[in-house]
Amino acid sequence: MLGARCLFRALRFCSSVPCPRHKPSSKLSVRDALRSQNTSGERVKVQGWIRSVRSQKEVLFLHVNDGSSLESLQVVTDSSFDSKELVFGSSVEVQGQLVKSPSKRQNVELKAEKIEVIGNCDAKAFPIKYKERHPLEYLRKYPHLRCRTNVLGSILRIRSEATAAIHSFFKPSSKIKVPEENFFNVPAFLTVSGQLHLEVMSGAFTQVFTFGPTFRAENSQSRRHLAEFYMVEAEICFAENLQNLMQVIEDLFKATTMIILSNCPEDVELCHKFIAPGHKDRLEHMLKNNFLIISYMEAIEILKKASQNFTFTPEVWGVDLQTEHEKYLVKHCGNIPVFVTNYPLALKPFYMRDNEDGPQHTVAAVDLLVPVVGELFGGSLREERYHILEQRLARLGLTEVYQWYLDLRRFGSVPHGGFGMGFERYLQCILGIDNIKDVIPFPRFTHSCIL
Ligand code: 4AD
Ligand code: MG
Repeated sequence: MLGARCLFRALRFCSSVPCPRHKPSSKLSVRDALRSQNTSGERVKVQGWIRSVRSQKEVLFLHVNDGSSLESLQVVTDSSFDSKELVFGSSVEVQGQLVKSPSKRQNVELKAEKIEVIGNCDAKAFPIKYKERHPLEYLRKYPHLRCRTNVLGSILRIRSEATAAIHSFFKPSSKIKVPEENFFNVPAFLTVSGQLHLEVMSGAFTQVFTFGPTFRAENSQSRRHLAEFYMVEAEICFAENLQNLMQVIEDLFKATTMIILSNCPEDVELCHKFIAPGHKDRLEHMLKNNFLIISYMEAIEILKKASQNFTFTPEVWGVDLQTEHEKYLVKHCGNIPVFVTNYPLALKPFYMRDNEDGPQHTVAAVDLLVPVVGELFGGSLREERYHILEQRLARLGLTEVYQWYLDLRRFGSVPHGGFGMGFERYLQCILGIDNIKDVIPFPRFTHSCIL
């Protein structure tokens, strides 16, 4: 008897032949289905993964999610559809009519006429459990599965939106995107920054940017370091002072964040509510205030007077700022992002423009420090004067290797500057996510490359 019933259901609901009585169903994403204005019984097909199953006496409710939105689509059907295969995690294709939902919880629901299980899911073995809120540390053990949770789904949708927003920020003003190098027939290294190549491009295009993977042999297990991360970098010709760069940095941060807030409100809300309570207000505070500016010298003075006990005592001019110092400075500035300018020459790379201001000799460098992560942006004016650059390279024994870079100063050199922003740190900062490993699909860091 049971066998006959199953067979009947299989024939009725798992056939791949379209039912001849109906028009073929148009395929919709869950997001589009949820937003559909056409709820007068339009026949549609939705594919995705089951997020919940609720069986009542006569009715079966499923929630199906395909990653296009945080909210899942409610599928309603009669309980004869119920089967052991319809479990949390299995993939399904549902066809039916999109109708107005009688419940206030959602506008539309899908009245299923056909439900096909595409891939079964062994719920017992599946590390992600129905209705459980797994800690982020637990999910990190499953980089191949964690994108199926609400929280990683939201973070990754925001990541995708942020990528598009950054491209749109640079695009309208005819800034040129420089492709990342990836085709060699000479010994080559993974890049730690696209800056020098951007500088080449800025010999012909006045505003260029790049956005791609960057690699560093950071021997650090910290919450803000990865061995492979994404960096947004820009180079701006005819930049006369650090103010020019700081303006672009602040605009980039604010414009990108506004787009994300307006395009992914539910996803951002999920992070702000469940991962970082209180962060919504902190982010608003960052957006509505003008970013502050202090010099490195002022930063050291603030740190010297600090009541906090630091692991590294910042007692003298010339020491590098540690994360603990950066975080203190941000707090001191009322949790408003703060630019720190004019660092000691000895701390910074050869290409940064010499301020020629001894005896405390500085370069025109700027870092932006923000809540949650500390340093988010690093940039500088570049040394465009041939002789000064040549001297610095000579002192480092690098003249020969960087002859091409010196050439850029021989042939139509212009004052210019640029910056790089750690993309994962940006996501941490706006979402309040403490660990960088949770904002990138596959975190790779020292002693760990799971996938
Ligand atoms: O300050 P950095 O090292 O600057 C540069 O590489 C410049 N050449 C960029 C430029 O001017 N075009 O790196 C820029 C930013 C940092 O401020 C930080 O946000 C991020 O990149 N970053 C990292 N993010 C994650 N993991 C790491 N190991 C990172 N190292 C730097
Ligand atoms: Mg830096």
